[in-house]
Amino acid sequence: MGKIKKALITGITGQDGSYLSELLLKKNYKVYGIVRRVALEDETHRLWRIKHLLNKIEIKSASLESYASIVKIIQQVRPDEIYHLGAQSFVAYSFEDEFSTLNTNINGTHYILSAIKDFSPKTKFYFAGSSEMFGKVQKSRQDENTRFYPRSAYGISKVAGFELTRNYREAYNIFACTGILFNHESPRRGFEFVTRKISSSVAKIKHGKQNYLYLGNINAKRDWGHARDYVKAMWLMLQQKKPLDFVIGTGKMHSVKDFAKLAFSTAGLNYKKYIRFNKKLLRPAEVETLRANYNKANKLLKWKPTVKFNQLVKEMVLEDIKFFK
Ligand code: NAP
Ligand code: GDD
Repeated sequence: MGKIKKALITGITGQDGSYLSELLLKKNYKVYGIVRRVALEDETHRLWRIKHLLNKIEIKSASLESYASIVKIIQQVRPDEIYHLGAQSFVAYSFEDEFSTLNTNINGTHYILSAIKDFSPKTKFYFAGSSEMFGKVQKSRQDENTRFYPRSAYGISKVAGFELTRNYREAYNIFACTGILFNHESPRRGFEFVTRKISSSVAKIKHGKQNYLYLGNINAKRDWGHARDYVKAMWLMLQQKKPLDFVIGTGKMHSVKDFAKLAFSTAGLNYKKYIRFNKKLLRPAEVETLRANYNKANKLLKWKPTVKFNQLVKEMVLEDIKFFK
């Protein structure tokens, strides 16, 4: 039997962290997760996505704002792979607090890369990049060569993380790569993101617990896939001979309105009766459309999405109807 691999995940309490932990456990990894102190103190609310895994993984308390705490854990664990998923990930919030978004997302990434370089240079590193880096898109389908044009502090922080990752790869020979992931959702998605906001509202309306759903720009279009497919791509990137960056998406685009229409109809409701506009939900600078060209991942990683838009919407709505009963 080969050596058991060790993986360290930042952001393990998030949507992707939970699916990635399940995948790595299935592959017989020893899984470690970095969790903030505040989350450990409020287990019921903050650890719900990994509750079923707590006896199989090892949780370490550390902060992405503290280089010293990151170094300590990397020295203790000496992971074969680090998946850096921890971030202030809500674009709308990044307009309210640019400072904490930039601090956590840029410094957090820098601290980990620097700690790898100085204390564990053989550790492979995955950075959670984002299609928000393309922002005001310069090409109708975005691939690894499309120019970045971020439209928020969040997008800017991810471009900085991407460049840090590239530079550590080139300057210090670290196996470091970025997955440029397009929107991916699931029944574990945070309630602030539009898909889960819609599926949870549909469920509450169905059960008579809510009257209306307030939304901002329903004409925005996204390339939505399922998170379970996307964590597989993260793992594949770290199993390649060479560290490369990859765009991961479905290549299909739908509007927020399309999502809402299908979500309501899944519950036997007509969306027109329930949707209301709230201008406070508009963003100072919007990303209007995003659509992936994932040919490189398909060719080199043999990766492709398995869950279609309709299946994703239905799964989220049906799960929320059960959840809110
Ligand atoms: P998520 O559910 O919002 O999870 C974010 C994780 O980051 C949580 O574990 C959270 O911990 C942690 N975190 C937030 N602020 C932190 C801080 N100041 N210090 C330490 N940890 C902090 O996000 P996700 O959807 O799983 O996404 C994972 C990563 O992929 C993120 O970096 C996100 O930006 C990126 N991404 C996501 C998508 C997508 O569509 N889902 C697409 C492209 C890129 P707490 O539980 O303690 O808050
Ligand atoms: N959240 C939210 N709430 N978004 C709304 C609403 C609303 O009430 N009404 C309309 N929208 C629109 C937003 O303006 C945006 O154009 C779109 O719905 C999607 O918003 P979110 O679901 O909040 O996701 P996002 O695309 O901004 O960001 C997500 O995907 C990125 C990858 O492209 C996040 O997961 C990021 O972390 C990720 O990097």
